[in-house]
Parts: sequence; C-alpha cells; structure tokens
Amino acid sequence: MKRIKIKDLLQMEARDEHVLLKGWVRTKRGSKNVNFIALNDGSCLANVQVVADVNNFEEDTLKNVTTGAAISVVGELVASQGSGQNVEVIAKELTVLGPADPDKYPIQPKRHTLEFLRENAHLRFRTNTFSAVFRIRHAMAFAIHQYFNQKGFYYLHTPLITASDAEGAGQMFRVSTLDPKNPPLTEEGNIDYSQDFFGRSTNLTVSGQLEGELGATALGEVYTFGPTFRAENSNTTRHLAEFWMIEPEMAFYELDDNMDLAEEFLKFCIQYALDNCMEDLVFLSKRLQEEEKSKPQAERSMELIEKLKFVLENDFVRCPYTEAIDILRNSKPFKKKKFQFPVEWGTDLQSEHERYLVEKHFKRPVILIDYPKDIKSFYMKQNPDGKTVAAMDVLFPQIGEIIGGSQREEDYEKLVTRMDEMGVPAEEMDWFLDTRRYGTVPHSGFGLGFERLLLFVTGMGNIRDVIPFPRTPKNAEF
Ligand code: 4AD
Ligand code: MG
Repeated sequence: MKRIKIKDLLQMEARDEHVLLKGWVRTKRGSKNVNFIALNDGSCLANVQVVADVNNFEEDTLKNVTTGAAISVVGELVASQGSGQNVEVIAKELTVLGPADPDKYPIQPKRHTLEFLRENAHLRFRTNTFSAVFRIRHAMAFAIHQYFNQKGFYYLHTPLITASDAEGAGQMFRVSTLDPKNPPLTEEGNIDYSQDFFGRSTNLTVSGQLEGELGATALGEVYTFGPTFRAENSNTTRHLAEFWMIEPEMAFYELDDNMDLAEEFLKFCIQYALDNCMEDLVFLSKRLQEEEKSKPQAERSMELIEKLKFVLENDFVRCPYTEAIDILRNSKPFKKKKFQFPVEWGTDLQSEHERYLVEKHFKRPVILIDYPKDIKSFYMKQNPDGKTVAAMDVLFPQIGEIIGGSQREEDYEKLVTRMDEMGVPAEEMDWFLDTRRYGTVPHSGFGLGFERLLLFVTGMGNIRDVIPFPRTPKNAEF
C-alpha cells in the first residue's frame, strides 16, 4: 500500500478503502477504551486524528505511542465526529517505527521558548512554529527561482571560495590548509600563502556580485542564490555569519530599472507566500499576536497578513539619502536626542534611523538612493555631483535594510581611480576589470538577504529562527 501524506489526506473525502499513514505523534489522549492520536508528518501544519480502539491493539504497542514517537498506521478514512477536521482515521493496524522515551523526549506539547528550541537542533523542526517557518523558507526559495526564470534570468553559480573582497569591508573567513602551528614564512616573516592550497590567500565569499557582473555582461541578466559569509562580530537579531543572498545582475539596467526590479521582485515573493502558505501564515500570525499582547498598544506591530498585503498594495517611496538626513534631523526623536547614533550627512544610517523613516515618517517601504560615496563600495556608479553614488537600499518595516544594491561604475578610468583611493588592489582584479575594458555597458544589480526576507514574511523576531542551522559569533554547533 502506498503511503499518503497528511496534507493530501486532509483534502480527501471519507472512503471505503484503507489508507497508510506514517508520521510522528504530537499528542495522545483518551479514555479507557479509545486513544486519540494527533499525527503529523511535516507535509502541512495540521495533524490528522487517528482513533485507536484500545481493545484492538497490544497494550505494549499503545504504550509506546507517545509524543515524538514515529508510527505507521493503516486505517479507514471516515468523516470526523469532532470539530476542527473533516476526516479522521480509524486505526486497523498500528506499528511503532521509532519510540521516543517519554521521560527523555525534550519537546513537550506545550509552549517552549525559541531560545530553548535553538539548542535542540533536530527537535525544533518538530514544532509547529519551526515547521511552518521552514515550509515558508522552501516556498520563498522556490518563488525566487520562479520569478527569475520567468523573466529570462540565468541562475549563475558563483564560487564560495574567492581571493577577492567584493565589498571591500574585510570581514572575511580565511580558507587555508596551512598548518596553523607551523605555517611557512616569507623572508619578511609573514605567512607565505603562495605555499597554501590555492597558491594564494583565499576566503569564503562575502558576495557573488563581482563574478555575477562577468555573467551579466555576457548572458545579459543573471542571478545568484547561495550562501554568503561575513565575519562581522555583530550579535544582533538581523545578522548571521552565514546567510543566503540572492544577487541579480543586469546589463543595460540603470538605477531606476534596478529599483523597479527590486520592488516587483519583493512583491512577487510576498504574493507567492500569500497564495501558497496561508495555513502556515495564519498560524504564525496568531502566534505573533499572542506575543504582542505583552507589549504596550503603541509598540504593537500590524497583524502579519495585513502587513504583507499592505506592502503589496503600496508603492515603495524613493528618496535620496540627502533628503532622508533632513527628515531625520527634523524629527522628534532627533530633537529629543532619542537616537543612539548621530545623524549627519556622510555617516551611515543605523537601523533606528531606517526604521524611523519607514515606520514613522513614510509608513511604507522606502528605497534610499544616492548615498555618500565614502560609505559605499568601490564599484558603485559615481554621480555627477562628485559626492554621491547611484546606490539603493530598500528599507522594510521592522527589518531596516532588506536589499542593498546599485548601478555599477562602467567607466574603466573612474573605476580604477576609485579602487586606488579606497585601497582595493586593482592589479589582482584584472579578471574583473576586463568587463570595463571590452564592451563595457551600464549595468546594475542588488543583493537580497534571504533571511531578512523571511523575517519579514514570517514575522519572526530573530534571524536565528528563520535559518535551520544558524551561524553566529561563538556559535557553530550542529
Ligand atoms: O548590502 P550588502 O552588503 O550588499 C552586497 O553584498 C552587494 N554585493 C549586493 C549586490 O549589489 N549584488 O548585502 C546585501 C543584503 C543586505 O541588504 C542584507 O539584507 C543582507 O544582504 N545581509 C545580511 N543578512 C544577514 N546577515 C548578515 N550579516 C548580512 N549582511 C548583509
Ligand atoms: Mg548594505
């Protein structure tokens, strides 16, 4: 007999044939004569109710049907007597595939804190919250590929091990096979990386963009979607040391085209979640509303599904950095010295500033453009004012920066001069500069932090809770 997934079973009508189900027990309750088993197989949020007549089974079998145990059930699909489900299964055969000692099983049918669950790498997948989050994570990854595929973009696999620092921020993890106790040294006493595995110093990539630019200036429109590594020591609810980034890169796109794409792309992903993940979203929304009850009215956020729809229905504001600085300096929190970080033309905005602009001032997503060149990477297109570059950051409520991107400097001379000024070694990046030497064109791209998108779509508050195995400073277990 072929196993039926619970998701499909719950769509079926009661029928005469028997069905075969396999899954993990969420709860068992019952009386002397019948047991009601809530069974879940991960295919959807809902459990199916399995009804077992105590007299039909060995005592030992039912004794081992405890929370967390894996069981296999053959039974009859009947219309349900109770509320909450259309059908239930009357068990005819029941096998315990894998028992779970009830005295040791760490997950009880009650609310656990997210911190506790983070330490139970395997079992946190068994909870409603995390199974919902990871089903949505899958759906969003699928939506991203669908979006770019239907627009004719090519999925380009850029390397994880690189010799360049794409963002120029120097927050990289070194990749080396040299013996740390006894590395070969140069005459000057430095580590001699020419004897390392790749014959040079290498790191885990901080971005696939530079390689993406090579693809875009030949294939036209490409995107990357892969793991990205940053050794920044920021222990916040929005930073990971290993995260996933989606980086589209497009030939012949200027900044406006880039912004149009970013907005359409984000809206497509959110619409996809509403169309395909409603059961999980409703669950997460309720969970969030419970959590919000403990907050004062003024600090409560919009209901999750309402918030997703709100983003779909409103155009993103497009605002130059210089204007944003004016808005911030004229704001109440600035005047009352409520901001922790300074607001001055030329400094980078902090998440408190970004969130003020989005949540309090404009009250919708904002794309900030034309940032001072000194706080942005070397590759961004220089504006005619000589002070700013054609950068764009998309800011979202509760998240702050969700996308960072720009039009690229396509002029060889300007680019090399800027690299020089910023200490980026042009001589090591000949392969990249070829794009500007031969058939250079205006082009643009951006990077979406996949986990930041998931924070927004699921309403979860900590980025560690939207990735299966979070990597953060001092934390790489499992
Ligand atoms: O703004 P960033 O650093 O931009 C780039 O890497 C460009 N090369 C992108 C491009 O133009 N192709 O990073 C892009 C996005 C951020 O907006 C943020 O959403 C996410 O990546 N991000 C992080 N997400 C989680 N943890 C971190 N430590 C992150 N750093 C950046
Ligand atoms: Mg950025």
